[in-house]
Amino acid sequence: MQLTPLHVQGGRELSGEIAVQHSKNAALPIIVASLLSSEKVTLHGIPRLSDVATILDLLAHIGTRHAWIGENSLELHTPEILNTDAPYALVSKMRASFIVMGPILARAGHATVSMPGGCAWGPRPVDQHVKALRALGAQVSEDGGNFEATRQGSLSGQFIFELLTVGGTHNAILASVLGDGVVTLENASIDTDVVDMIEFLNSLGADIQGAGTNTITVRGVSALRGGTYTVIPDRIEAGTFMMLAAATRSRVTLTNVRPDHLRAVTGKLQEMGVDVTEQGSTLTVDARDRTLNPVNITTQSYPGFPTDLQPQMSALLATVPGTSVVQDPVYPDRLTHVAELTRMGANITVSGYTQVIQGGALHAAPVKAADLRAGAALFIAGLTCEGDTVIDGVQYLNRGYERLAERLRGLGANVMQPEGLLAAAD
Ligand code: EPU
Repeated sequence: MQLTPLHVQGGRELSGEIAVQHSKNAALPIIVASLLSSEKVTLHGIPRLSDVATILDLLAHIGTRHAWIGENSLELHTPEILNTDAPYALVSKMRASFIVMGPILARAGHATVSMPGGCAWGPRPVDQHVKALRALGAQVSEDGGNFEATRQGSLSGQFIFELLTVGGTHNAILASVLGDGVVTLENASIDTDVVDMIEFLNSLGADIQGAGTNTITVRGVSALRGGTYTVIPDRIEAGTFMMLAAATRSRVTLTNVRPDHLRAVTGKLQEMGVDVTEQGSTLTVDARDRTLNPVNITTQSYPGFPTDLQPQMSALLATVPGTSVVQDPVYPDRLTHVAELTRMGANITVSGYTQVIQGGALHAAPVKAADLRAGAALFIAGLTCEGDTVIDGVQYLNRGYERLAERLRGLGANVMQPEGLLAAAD
């Protein structure tokens, strides 16, 4: 859906308090994990995002009935799996959809899921998902752009991931929860979103040990019951707001934060000379009246510096005098923000996955977001300079940030809200 562009008029200090939404990237797999129970599941802390609407469309096809029972609360019920396929039209909208393979396979014994394809910044393969399922006893074949998975009995055995993958770990766990096998996953992701999904599944009666470590053991159970769960705060949205506060040299307080999920981000901002203070689930970023230092960043799996904050950090560093080096080996092509920031006066030289940034002042310009986090980076850049920064591609921001313009206006940001920005997920 094409939305009218967003107008950002920056160059002013922001102040006040902003509540961070609950995590998009934890909510999506938890919604998918609800497929494993035939009973009713109630989820709180579900952000109203277009990605949530996309996954709900896919679940409706599979057999889930859903109802919003509050602004961010969702009831899900999948009494039976009606369709065991996840067609291209639905999967191609969002790559995270690929993990429906695990629960469909677990409940129905077979699943056909379209290959997710690439995205604006590269191929994003699913080889580890497929290798894991095969190692655990499933038969997986590729045909006409689809992966078809079948199993005879319960999945069991061991798989060592060849690299750390959040989605691959999700998929392998989801496929293993039901039945009577024992599955051990080595070199598994310790990401907060994996931990949150495991805690959700265990609250429904699953038997999964080792959350937050590289070795996860899943002992199959015959069925999951229903239940109620609240998703963790969104560390990527929190990090985006931290960078926004630093880039505008402001003091902003974030509520609904897990500071322990943001250590790498907090550490880098402190290295830059930004004051970050934590108090319970509140975090205050103060960059007023400061000369910030350039820093070097290399993205890593959690708990390292997240790739999902790399474009926003690049925008911030583009405003900091001196030379910063930003490297994103996790997604080497995640660079769609660079040319757009250059239109705003940023001096960024790219070589492979390395950006060398000579910081200075930015100026307003018409720009276009080609993906979610690039959109956030342009938003941050726009807030640092006077004049009208017109950001096209607003639909990407709606994938990951709930009512962004409206919420930032609460901090004093001058952001004109185009028609349709508030379109809620349903
Ligand atoms: N990889 C493979 N083979 C696989 C799977 C992954 O080579 O089978 C590679 C990827 O190409 C990448 C690395 O492993 O280089 C990590 O990918 P991962 O599987 O961890 O990513 P994901 O699960 O597909 C999630 C988030 C992304 C986030 C990444 C990395 C969701 C819905 N998506 O994707 O979030 O960038 O983890 O942390 O949770 C975003 O929110 O903007 C976003 C893109």
